[in-house]
Formats: sequence, C-alpha cells, structure tokens
Amino acid sequence: MIILGGTATNGIDEKVSSLLNLKLVKIEHKVFPDGESYVRIPEQITDKDVVVIQSLYPPQDKHLIELFLVVETLSDMKVDKITVVIPYLAYSRQNRRFKEGEAISIKTILNLLRKSGASSLAVVEPHHYEELEYFEGDIKVIDPIPYISKVVSQRTEKPLVLAPDKGALNRAKRLAEILSTDYTFIEKERDLNTGEVRIKNLPELEVKGRDVVLIDDIISTGGTMVQAINMVKKQGARKVYVTAVHGLFIGDAYLRLIEAGAEEVIITNTIPQDPSKVTIVDVSEAVARTL
Ligand code: R5P
Repeated sequence: MIILGGTATNGIDEKVSSLLNLKLVKIEHKVFPDGESYVRIPEQITDKDVVVIQSLYPPQDKHLIELFLVVETLSDMKVDKITVVIPYLAYSRQNRRFKEGEAISIKTILNLLRKSGASSLAVVEPHHYEELEYFEGDIKVIDPIPYISKVVSQRTEKPLVLAPDKGALNRAKRLAEILSTDYTFIEKERDLNTGEVRIKNLPELEVKGRDVVLIDDIISTGGTMVQAINMVKKQGARKVYVTAVHGLFIGDAYLRLIEAGAEEVIITNTIPQDPSKVTIVDVSEAVARTL
C-alpha cells in the first residue's frame, strides 16, 4: 500500500504515511493561466493498493476536480484498489431535495468519484452516514470524537454535552459516553431562503450552573453555534466550550463565537486552522487506524 498526497491535505498525508510507515508520493500540480487545474502523478505506480488523501475544503470545486483527475489517472495506471480518504467532505449538507428541482449535490459527487475509479471511500465524520451510501463501493467512517474528547476532558469534568440540533444528537451521545456524562439536544430551524437559524426548543436537561460542551459536525457561518451559546448562557450555563469536527469559519464566524461567550473553540485539522485562535485536534491517527 502507498499513500498519494493530494493537492489539499493539510499535512494529514504526511502524518498518516509516517504513522503507518508507508511510502508517500505527492501529486504535482499547478494552475494554468486561465485557472484550470493541472495534476500529475510523478511516477509510475506499480503498487496495487493506493490510498489517495484529499480534503475538500475551499476552494472545494477546485479540490474536487483535482481529486477526480488524480483518481482517473490512477485507474489508467491499472491500480486495483483505489481508496479515497476525504477528511472534509464538501457538499454533504446538500444531501436531499429540500425544494423541488434542487440538485442532490453529494449524490452527483459520489457517483462521479466511483465512476472515476475509486473503489473505497473513507470520510472523517460525515454530515450523516446515509449520504455516503450514494457511493456504490466500500465505505468507511473515520471517527474523530475520541480525539476531541481527550481535549475536552482536560478542560472540564462532567459537562453537559449539547447537540445544537436533533440531527447531531448521535455525535453528542458518542462524546458524552466517552466523558461518562449526560447529553441532550436543542432544536433549530433554518430559513431555507435566508439561511438564518432560530432555536425552536430548549434542552430537556438543566443547564444552570453547568459547563456545556456544544458539539456539531461543521461550523460554517457560526450562526448555529451563536444561537446555541446565547441560549445556554441565558439559561445560566457556566463555561461554554464549542467543538466541531470541520471548521470552515466563514467571514467573522470565529469572532462571533467568542463575542457570544465561547470559552474555547476546539476543532480538528480536516480544514486548515489558525492555531492562535482555535485548539486543533489532529485526526491523522484516526485516519491511519481506519486504513
Ligand atoms: C447543519 O445541519 C450542520 O450540521 C451545521 O449545523 C451547519 O452546517 C452549521 O452552519 P452554520 O455555522 O452556518 O450555522
């Protein structure tokens, strides 16, 4: 088995290859003057089992096209088993038709990946497991929660773990079980036109006087987390820790979290982060263990 480091890995490819003592081949890439991507696998691959690591953080469309180009080139080199590891799977939130006529983006992407020649897919904490089933090959889910829990357990004892919407409850449950504490959710609703988030229901468990750990899969604009922080603060929470797997932090999202009262923001390295702002949890070992 060898590792092929894609054009967007945030260093995870190097760490995984060193943890598993596997050869790492780096993709050569450049951008043509008109903006088109060029990729090249710099050596003939004779290994039958290749792991491609490519995260799909912004610019996600570019990183996605580069991934398709690499996978099809590997197929042309007659590699038997192409495993694609995607630390952050973009487009996963458009996993159904919320409005008539909408594209189910994740379905198209996973179909194309399979058609390009990927035989196996491994994703760090997908939005929902079900959307991965659009990939008609072998699927693996990489769990970063045990690694996040190590940081959280150094900060607080028996916090209330809170999912900022019902869909994230399983994630909160997994974290709470490792921390041997309790968990619940609040319910949010999002305006499909403006994207604005509103909290619909309060948590069932008592928040007053407790440390709260909010956990979600993605922080994008920060809107969901800001609403949740405001709500638990209003209910008398002590310290509020904000954690998520994938941090996009669009615009001033980070600042909004801090201004709302977040004690600390804990996030993984599936997307590059600024270590002077957030606490970064490395998922490389979780990836290595899954391969
Ligand atoms: C949505 O269902 C996701 O799980 C996240 O809650 C959402 O993507 C967060 O987005 P934002 O930070 O813009 O509220």
